[in-house]
Amino acid sequence: MNILSFESSCDETAVAIVRDGREVVASTVISQIDIHKVYGGVVPEIASRYHIEKISQLTEECIRQSGLSEDEIDAVAVTAAPGLIGALLVGLNFAKGYAYARNLPLIPVHHIRAHVAANYLAYPELKPPFLAMIVSGGHSHIVLVKNYTEYQILGRTKDDAAGEAFDKGARVLGLPYPGGVHMDKLAKEGNPKAIQFPKVRFKEDPYDFSFSGVKTAIVNYVHNARQKGEEPNLADVAASYSEAVTGILAENFLRCAKDYDQKTLVIAGGVSANSMLREKLLAGKEQDQQLFMPPLSLCGDNGAMVGAQAYYEFKAGNTAGLDLNALSAYSIEKQLC
Ligand code: KG4
Ligand code: ZN
Repeated sequence: MNILSFESSCDETAVAIVRDGREVVASTVISQIDIHKVYGGVVPEIASRYHIEKISQLTEECIRQSGLSEDEIDAVAVTAAPGLIGALLVGLNFAKGYAYARNLPLIPVHHIRAHVAANYLAYPELKPPFLAMIVSGGHSHIVLVKNYTEYQILGRTKDDAAGEAFDKGARVLGLPYPGGVHMDKLAKEGNPKAIQFPKVRFKEDPYDFSFSGVKTAIVNYVHNARQKGEEPNLADVAASYSEAVTGILAENFLRCAKDYDQKTLVIAGGVSANSMLREKLLAGKEQDQQLFMPPLSLCGDNGAMVGAQAYYEFKAGNTAGLDLNALSAYSIEKQLC
Protein backbone atom coordinates (compact mmCIF):
# COMPACT_ATOMS: atom_id res chain seq x y z
CA MET A 1 0.00 0.00 0.00
CA ASN A 2 1.51 3.35 -1.11
CA ILE A 3 0.57 6.28 1.11
CA LEU A 4 1.19 9.87 -0.01
CA SER A 5 1.90 11.74 3.20
CA PHE A 6 2.10 15.39 4.18
CA GLU A 7 3.75 17.15 7.12
CA SER A 8 3.43 20.90 7.69
CA SER A 9 2.98 21.26 11.45
CA CYS A 10 5.86 23.70 11.96
CA ASP A 11 8.66 24.99 9.74
CA GLU A 12 9.21 22.05 7.40
CA THR A 13 7.07 21.41 4.35
CA ALA A 14 7.44 17.69 3.74
CA VAL A 15 5.87 15.19 1.36
CA ALA A 16 6.68 11.49 1.13
CA ILE A 17 5.41 8.23 -0.28
CA VAL A 18 5.75 5.26 2.06
CA ARG A 19 5.01 1.63 1.22
CA ASP A 20 3.35 -0.60 3.81
CA GLY A 21 4.47 1.59 6.69
CA ARG A 22 8.08 0.52 6.44
CA GLU A 23 9.64 1.51 3.12
CA VAL A 24 10.34 5.06 1.99
CA VAL A 25 9.59 5.21 -1.75
CA ALA A 26 10.29 8.96 -1.94
CA SER A 27 10.75 11.73 0.61
CA THR A 28 11.04 15.46 -0.04
CA VAL A 29 11.43 18.30 2.45
CA ILE A 30 11.76 22.06 2.20
CA SER A 31 13.05 23.59 5.40
CA GLN A 32 12.17 27.16 6.33
CA ILE A 33 15.00 27.51 8.82
CA ASP A 34 16.79 30.22 6.82
CA ILE A 35 13.59 32.27 6.65
CA HIS A 36 12.85 32.14 10.41
CA LYS A 37 16.48 32.41 11.51
CA VAL A 38 16.49 36.21 11.32
CA TYR A 39 13.60 36.32 13.85
CA GLY A 40 15.27 33.85 16.24
CA GLY A 41 12.28 31.50 16.08
CA VAL A 42 9.40 30.31 13.92
CA VAL A 43 6.95 33.06 12.92
CA PRO A 44 3.65 31.16 12.50
CA GLU A 45 2.11 33.37 9.82
CA ILE A 46 5.24 33.30 7.68
CA ALA A 47 5.42 29.51 8.11
CA SER A 48 1.84 29.08 6.84
CA ARG A 49 2.41 31.27 3.80
CA TYR A 50 5.59 29.49 2.85
CA HIS A 51 3.87 26.08 3.17
CA ILE A 52 1.21 27.32 0.74
CA GLU A 53 3.87 28.47 -1.73
CA LYS A 54 5.78 25.20 -1.68
CA ILE A 55 3.42 22.28 -1.06
CA SER A 56 2.14 21.88 -4.59
CA GLN A 57 5.52 21.80 -6.34
CA LEU A 58 6.92 19.58 -3.57
CA THR A 59 4.13 17.05 -4.11
CA GLU A 60 4.84 16.94 -7.84
CA GLU A 61 8.53 16.51 -7.10
CA CYS A 62 7.86 13.71 -4.63
CA ILE A 63 5.66 11.78 -7.04
CA ARG A 64 8.22 12.27 -9.81
CA GLN A 65 11.03 10.98 -7.55
CA SER A 66 8.97 7.94 -6.55
CA GLY A 67 8.69 6.75 -10.15
CA LEU A 68 5.07 5.83 -9.41
CA SER A 69 2.05 6.88 -11.43
CA GLU A 70 -0.65 8.67 -9.45
CA ASP A 71 -2.87 5.61 -9.94
CA GLU A 72 -0.46 3.67 -7.75
CA ILE A 73 -1.13 5.91 -4.75
CA ASP A 74 -3.59 4.13 -2.45
CA ALA A 75 -4.23 6.65 0.33
CA VAL A 76 -3.40 10.14 1.56
CA ALA A 77 -2.09 10.89 5.06
CA VAL A 78 -1.54 14.17 6.83
CA THR A 79 -0.37 15.52 10.18
CA ALA A 80 -3.58 16.86 11.71
CA ALA A 81 -2.33 17.66 15.25
CA PRO A 82 -0.57 19.03 17.24
CA GLY A 83 1.30 22.01 15.76
CA LEU A 84 0.92 25.58 14.55
CA ILE A 85 -2.70 25.76 13.51
CA GLY A 86 -2.21 27.82 10.35
CA ALA A 87 0.69 25.64 9.25
CA LEU A 88 -1.24 22.42 9.93
CA LEU A 89 -4.21 23.70 7.94
CA VAL A 90 -2.14 24.10 4.79
CA GLY A 91 -1.11 20.43 4.73
CA LEU A 92 -4.55 19.32 5.85
CA ASN A 93 -6.42 21.17 3.13
CA PHE A 94 -3.98 20.13 0.44
CA ALA A 95 -4.28 16.49 1.54
CA LYS A 96 -8.06 16.73 1.60
CA GLY A 97 -8.09 18.18 -1.90
CA TYR A 98 -5.84 15.42 -3.21
CA ALA A 99 -7.85 12.68 -1.50
CA TYR A 100 -11.13 14.12 -2.80
CA ALA A 101 -9.88 14.59 -6.35
CA ARG A 102 -8.62 11.03 -6.60
CA ASN A 103 -11.22 9.43 -4.37
CA LEU A 104 -8.67 8.09 -1.88
CA PRO A 105 -8.95 7.41 1.86
CA LEU A 106 -7.76 10.28 4.08
CA ILE A 107 -5.71 9.29 7.15
CA PRO A 108 -5.12 11.86 9.90
CA VAL A 109 -1.87 11.36 11.82
CA HIS A 110 -0.78 12.64 15.23
CA HIS A 111 2.62 14.34 14.95
CA ILE A 112 4.12 12.66 18.01
CA ARG A 113 2.92 9.22 16.92
CA ALA A 114 4.63 9.93 13.60
CA HIS A 115 7.92 10.77 15.34
CA VAL A 116 7.80 7.38 17.07
CA ALA A 117 6.98 5.69 13.73
CA ALA A 118 10.15 7.15 12.15
CA ASN A 119 11.84 4.21 13.87
CA TYR A 120 9.71 1.69 11.94
CA LEU A 121 11.34 2.95 8.75
CA ALA A 122 14.84 2.33 10.08
CA TYR A 123 14.25 -0.89 12.03
CA PRO A 124 12.11 -3.53 10.28
CA GLU A 125 12.23 -5.71 13.39
CA LEU A 126 10.81 -3.03 15.72
CA LYS A 127 7.25 -3.72 16.84
CA PRO A 128 5.19 -2.53 19.82
CA PRO A 129 4.95 -2.90 22.74
CA PHE A 130 7.86 -0.70 23.78
CA LEU A 131 8.69 2.37 25.84
CA ALA A 132 9.33 5.56 23.87
CA MET A 133 10.74 8.96 24.76
CA ILE A 134 9.76 11.67 22.30
CA VAL A 135 11.80 14.85 22.67
CA SER A 136 11.27 17.64 20.17
CA GLY A 137 10.90 21.39 19.93
CA GLY A 138 7.38 21.25 21.32
CA HIS A 139 7.17 18.00 23.32
CA SER A 140 8.94 15.89 25.90
CA HIS A 141 7.04 12.70 26.60
CA ILE A 142 7.71 9.24 27.95
CA VAL A 143 5.07 7.01 26.44
CA LEU A 144 4.18 3.36 26.68
CA VAL A 145 3.42 2.28 23.10
CA LYS A 146 1.05 -0.63 23.73
CA ASN A 147 0.37 -1.28 20.08
CA TYR A 148 0.62 0.76 16.87
CA THR A 149 -2.34 2.96 17.80
CA GLU A 150 -2.60 2.73 21.60
CA TYR A 151 -0.46 4.89 23.88
CA GLN A 152 -0.16 5.71 27.57
CA ILE A 153 1.74 8.79 28.73
CA LEU A 154 3.91 8.01 31.76
CA GLY A 155 5.97 11.19 31.87
CA ARG A 156 5.76 14.66 30.37
CA THR A 157 7.20 18.11 30.75
CA LYS A 158 5.52 20.40 33.23
CA ASP A 159 6.67 23.50 31.36
CA ASP A 160 9.04 23.75 28.39
CA ALA A 161 10.05 21.05 25.94
CA ALA A 162 13.63 19.78 25.82
CA GLY A 163 14.09 21.28 22.34
CA GLU A 164 12.95 24.68 23.59
CA ALA A 165 15.47 24.41 26.41
CA PHE A 166 18.24 23.69 23.91
CA ASP A 167 17.15 26.50 21.60
CA LYS A 168 16.89 29.05 24.42
CA GLY A 169 20.25 28.00 25.91
CA ALA A 170 21.87 28.22 22.48
CA ARG A 171 20.43 31.69 21.94
CA VAL A 172 21.98 32.89 25.20
CA LEU A 173 25.33 31.61 23.91
CA GLY A 174 24.86 33.52 20.65
CA LEU A 175 24.37 30.41 18.51
CA PRO A 176 22.07 30.47 15.46
CA TYR A 177 18.46 29.22 15.49
CA PRO A 178 17.50 26.42 15.87
CA GLY A 179 20.23 26.05 18.42
CA GLY A 180 20.03 22.40 19.47
CA VAL A 181 22.42 21.09 16.86
CA HIS A 182 24.90 23.98 17.42
CA MET A 183 24.79 23.46 21.18
CA ASP A 184 25.47 19.76 20.57
CA LYS A 185 28.60 20.60 18.53
CA LEU A 186 29.93 23.22 20.94
CA ALA A 187 29.32 20.95 23.93
CA LYS A 188 31.78 18.41 22.51
CA GLU A 189 34.59 20.95 23.04
CA GLY A 190 33.71 21.76 26.66
CA ASN A 191 33.78 20.23 30.13
CA PRO A 192 30.32 18.97 31.19
CA LYS A 193 31.36 19.12 34.85
CA ALA A 194 32.54 22.75 34.75
CA ILE A 195 29.24 24.24 35.95
CA GLN A 196 26.49 22.66 38.05
CA PHE A 197 23.19 23.50 36.34
CA PRO A 198 20.03 22.38 38.16
CA LYS A 199 18.31 19.09 37.39
CA VAL A 200 14.71 19.21 38.59
CA ARG A 201 13.12 16.01 39.89
CA PHE A 202 9.57 15.45 41.14
CA LYS A 203 8.97 12.99 43.96
CA GLU A 204 5.31 12.48 43.06
CA ASP A 205 5.85 12.36 39.29
CA PRO A 206 9.25 10.72 38.90
CA TYR A 207 9.16 10.59 35.09
CA ASP A 208 8.08 14.21 34.54
CA PHE A 209 10.42 16.93 33.37
CA SER A 210 10.85 20.64 33.97
CA PHE A 211 13.29 22.76 32.01
CA SER A 212 12.29 26.30 32.95
CA GLY A 213 14.74 26.35 35.89
CA VAL A 214 17.74 25.27 33.85
CA LYS A 215 16.81 27.82 31.17
CA THR A 216 16.82 30.62 33.76
CA ALA A 217 20.07 29.28 35.21
CA ILE A 218 21.98 29.56 31.92
CA VAL A 219 20.70 33.11 31.37
CA ASN A 220 21.78 34.12 34.88
CA TYR A 221 25.15 32.40 34.61
CA VAL A 222 26.13 34.15 31.39
CA HIS A 223 24.74 37.55 32.47
CA ASN A 224 26.39 37.42 35.91
CA ALA A 225 29.75 36.56 34.38
CA ARG A 226 29.50 39.42 31.87
CA GLN A 227 28.43 41.88 34.56
CA LYS A 228 31.68 41.09 36.33
CA GLY A 229 33.51 41.77 33.09
CA GLU A 230 34.34 38.10 32.55
CA GLU A 231 33.63 36.20 29.34
CA PRO A 232 32.42 32.70 30.24
CA ASN A 233 33.94 29.70 28.49
CA LEU A 234 31.06 29.07 26.11
CA ALA A 235 32.07 25.49 25.33
CA ASP A 236 32.04 24.67 29.06
CA VAL A 237 28.64 26.34 29.45
CA ALA A 238 27.25 24.39 26.46
CA ALA A 239 28.66 21.11 27.76
CA SER A 240 27.42 21.66 31.33
CA TYR A 241 23.99 22.79 30.17
CA SER A 242 23.67 19.80 27.81
CA GLU A 243 24.76 17.60 30.69
CA ALA A 244 21.87 18.88 32.84
CA VAL A 245 19.21 18.62 30.10
CA THR A 246 20.25 15.24 28.72
CA GLY A 247 21.01 13.93 32.20
CA ILE A 248 17.45 14.38 33.39
CA LEU A 249 16.02 13.01 30.12
CA ALA A 250 18.15 9.89 30.29
CA GLU A 251 17.65 9.35 34.03
CA ASN A 252 13.86 9.61 33.89
CA PHE A 253 13.56 7.45 30.79
CA LEU A 254 15.82 4.69 32.13
CA ARG A 255 14.15 4.80 35.53
CA CYS A 256 10.72 4.50 33.93
CA ALA A 257 11.93 1.58 31.79
CA LYS A 258 13.21 -0.18 34.89
CA ASP A 259 10.07 0.45 36.94
CA TYR A 260 7.82 -0.76 34.10
CA ASP A 261 10.16 -3.63 33.24
CA GLN A 262 10.52 -2.52 29.62
CA LYS A 263 13.17 -4.21 27.51
CA THR A 264 12.63 -2.33 24.24
CA LEU A 265 13.41 1.38 24.33
CA VAL A 266 12.84 3.85 21.52
CA ILE A 267 13.71 7.53 21.22
CA ALA A 268 12.31 9.98 18.69
CA GLY A 269 12.00 13.67 17.78
CA GLY A 270 14.52 16.38 16.94
CA VAL A 271 16.34 16.21 20.27
CA SER A 272 16.86 12.45 19.87
CA ALA A 273 19.67 13.47 17.48
CA ASN A 274 21.63 14.83 20.46
CA SER A 275 24.93 13.01 20.83
CA MET A 276 25.22 13.40 24.61
CA LEU A 277 21.72 12.01 25.10
CA ARG A 278 22.55 9.03 22.88
CA GLU A 279 25.78 8.34 24.77
CA LYS A 280 24.04 8.51 28.14
CA LEU A 281 21.28 6.12 27.09
CA LEU A 282 23.73 3.64 25.58
CA ALA A 283 25.91 3.76 28.67
CA GLY A 284 23.02 3.65 31.15
CA LYS A 285 20.72 1.00 29.71
CA GLU A 286 20.74 -2.53 31.07
CA GLN A 287 22.37 -5.28 29.00
CA ASP A 288 19.04 -6.95 28.31
CA GLN A 289 17.46 -3.70 27.11
CA GLN A 290 17.50 -2.92 23.41
CA LEU A 291 17.72 0.74 22.41
CA PHE A 292 16.41 2.00 19.06
CA MET A 293 17.51 5.45 17.93
CA PRO A 294 16.41 6.88 14.59
CA PRO A 295 19.06 7.81 12.02
CA LEU A 296 19.72 11.55 12.18
CA SER A 297 17.83 12.06 8.91
CA LEU A 298 14.62 10.81 10.56
CA CYS A 299 14.88 12.62 13.91
CA GLY A 300 13.49 15.96 12.75
CA ASP A 301 10.18 16.59 11.01
CA ASN A 302 9.70 14.69 7.75
CA GLY A 303 6.90 13.31 5.63
CA ALA A 304 8.03 9.69 5.71
CA MET A 305 7.30 9.27 9.42
CA VAL A 306 3.73 10.39 8.75
CA GLY A 307 3.35 7.74 6.05
CA ALA A 308 4.77 5.10 8.36
CA GLN A 309 2.28 5.78 11.16
CA ALA A 310 -0.56 6.27 8.66
CA TYR A 311 -0.28 2.68 7.48
CA TYR A 312 -1.04 1.41 10.98
CA GLU A 313 -3.80 3.98 11.51
CA PHE A 314 -5.38 2.78 8.26
CA LYS A 315 -5.14 -0.85 9.33
CA ALA A 316 -6.89 0.12 12.59
CA GLY A 317 -9.71 1.71 10.57
CA ASN A 318 -8.76 5.30 11.41
CA THR A 319 -9.72 7.23 8.30
CA ALA A 320 -11.43 10.62 8.29
CA GLY A 321 -14.04 12.42 6.23
CA LEU A 322 -13.57 15.76 4.52
CA ASP A 323 -14.85 17.48 7.67
CA LEU A 324 -11.52 16.66 9.36
CA ASN A 325 -10.07 19.65 11.19
CA ALA A 326 -6.58 20.48 12.46
CA LEU A 327 -5.92 20.86 16.20
CA SER A 328 -3.04 22.83 17.69
CA ALA A 329 -2.99 20.68 20.84
CA TYR A 330 -4.11 17.08 21.20
CA SER A 331 -3.04 14.15 23.35
CA ILE A 332 -1.16 11.27 21.75
CA GLU A 333 -3.46 8.96 23.72
CA LYS A 334 -6.59 10.07 21.88
CA GLN A 335 -7.74 9.02 18.42
CA LEU A 336 -8.03 11.77 15.81
CA CYS A 337 -11.10 10.23 14.26
O1 KG4 B 1 11.07 17.16 16.06
P1 KG4 B 1 11.50 18.50 15.61
O2 KG4 B 1 12.23 18.61 14.28
O3 KG4 B 1 10.30 19.49 15.54
C1 KG4 B 1 9.26 19.49 16.47
O4 KG4 B 1 8.34 18.67 16.34
O5 KG4 B 1 9.37 20.33 17.40
O6 KG4 B 1 12.45 19.09 16.77
C2 KG4 B 1 13.10 20.30 16.65
C3 KG4 B 1 13.94 20.51 17.90
C4 KG4 B 1 14.56 21.90 17.94
O7 KG4 B 1 14.35 22.44 19.22
C5 KG4 B 1 16.04 21.61 17.71
O8 KG4 B 1 16.91 22.55 18.28
C6 KG4 B 1 16.19 20.27 18.36
O9 KG4 B 1 15.02 19.57 17.96
N1 KG4 B 1 17.41 19.55 17.93
C7 KG4 B 1 18.41 19.20 18.77
C8 KG4 B 1 19.41 18.58 17.97
N2 KG4 B 1 18.95 18.56 16.68
C9 KG4 B 1 17.73 19.16 16.68
N3 KG4 B 1 18.55 19.38 20.09
C10 KG4 B 1 19.67 18.91 20.65
N4 KG4 B 1 20.67 18.31 19.97
C11 KG4 B 1 20.58 18.12 18.63
N5 KG4 B 1 21.57 17.51 17.97
ZN1 ZN C 1 8.27 17.24 15.21
